[in-house]
Amino acid sequence: MARRKQIYEGKAKILYEGPEPGTLIQYFKDDATAFNAEKHAVLEGKGILNNRISEFIMSGIERIGIPTHFIRRLNMREQLIRQVEIIPLEVVVRNVAAGSMVKRLGLKEGDLLPRPVIEFYLKDDKLGDPLVTEDHVNAFGWANPQEMDDILNMAMRVNDFLSGLFSAVNIRLVDFKIEFGRQFEGDLMRVILADEISPDSCRLWDMDTNYILDKDRFRKDLGGLTDAYREVATRLGIIKENDKRDTKGPVLVSSNEEK
Ligand code: TMP
Repeated sequence: MARRKQIYEGKAKILYEGPEPGTLIQYFKDDATAFNAEKHAVLEGKGILNNRISEFIMSGIERIGIPTHFIRRLNMREQLIRQVEIIPLEVVVRNVAAGSMVKRLGLKEGDLLPRPVIEFYLKDDKLGDPLVTEDHVNAFGWANPQEMDDILNMAMRVNDFLSGLFSAVNIRLVDFKIEFGRQFEGDLMRVILADEISPDSCRLWDMDTNYILDKDRFRKDLGGLTDAYREVATRLGIIKENDKRDTKGPVLVSSNEEK
């Protein structure tokens, strides 16, 4: 079988050349990193869960009219996506005080913010993804004002969509990070949602107990990360209760048992 051309390898995903021009294949690894890859582990099944959860969320976002790079899931670990030029910003939306915002501003973790707050971080591992202002973004040309307008608008709509989706299954959406890219079609260019949306890139707390259901389980050495991600997928109705096969890679099944 011909080897596919690898375009890019990130901390949790690999991008391969797609079957048609303008497409790529996004492969979800089991690797987890934190603190700019200072901390690393391989958590069996994480990639499979994130592939399914991101598929579910991106499809829902597409249905409410926000363009995304997602085309379709191909298999347990891969999805077909539109090729974009990534805008070098991590766009964070926060509803509840947590993480770096608590440290930076001296807030109390868990406090509801007066309103959703958007932050921009420059995607630059060497600099540790520093917080930047919209004026930095404009002055250095990382995105133009029209693009920033689209990004702000889509980020707020994604926040409303995700807050509703998760609250319906008793999960509080504390905050999340999204990325955008430029898609070129002939002379036309549009900004679309890219990357992934999964418990790797969100903070998700059980509404009754505040039990952490996201990558903070790894960052804070709490254990039980894949069980938590599986719980998120189960509550969203993506996988069936106790269906371990959905996250364990290929398994041998008896002749008449399909899925
Ligand atoms: P922070 O509180 O550490 O700044 O994180 C804000 C949100 O962004 C949180 O949901 C986790 C997510 N995030 C990423 O997806 N990638 C990152 O590299 C970082 C630092 C945060």
